[in-house]
Amino acid sequence: MVYLTRREHFNGAHRLFNPDWTEEQNDEVFGKCANKNWHGHNFDVFVTVKGEPNPDTGFIMNAHELAKIMKREIVERLDHKNFNMDVPELKGVLPSTENVVKQIWKWIAPHITTCQLHCIKLVETENIYVEYYGETS
Ligand code: NI
Repeated sequence: MVYLTRREHFNGAHRLFNPDWTEEQNDEVFGKCANKNWHGHNFDVFVTVKGEPNPDTGFIMNAHELAKIMKREIVERLDHKNFNMDVPELKGVLPSTENVVKQIWKWIAPHITTCQLHCIKLVETENIYVEYYGETS
């Protein structure tokens, strides 16, 4: 089994807040990410697929094809967007990095047909990233 990873980059804005909580509770839990007037992050997203190399190409998946899928399904949807307001699939969802990576999986998975989607890693800051393997529990 061989694993292939492709990276893409995008910028996005969000605000993390729970409308059922007071402002103080939101500030305590979400810190700067609760800022009323939004803030942005520079995200890196890594999509890893796995499989056996095709004898005709030597590839488990053409990396250019993976790049096209990631640009179309992730970058075009999220780059320079406000995750709370501009992304229909995130309406009513707390747009944490955890929830965004799960949505990215839903966008990408149907397009990985010649091998298997293994992991999506979403890097929010140089010190924080999340990884999702498609597990639901
Ligand atoms: Ni934030």
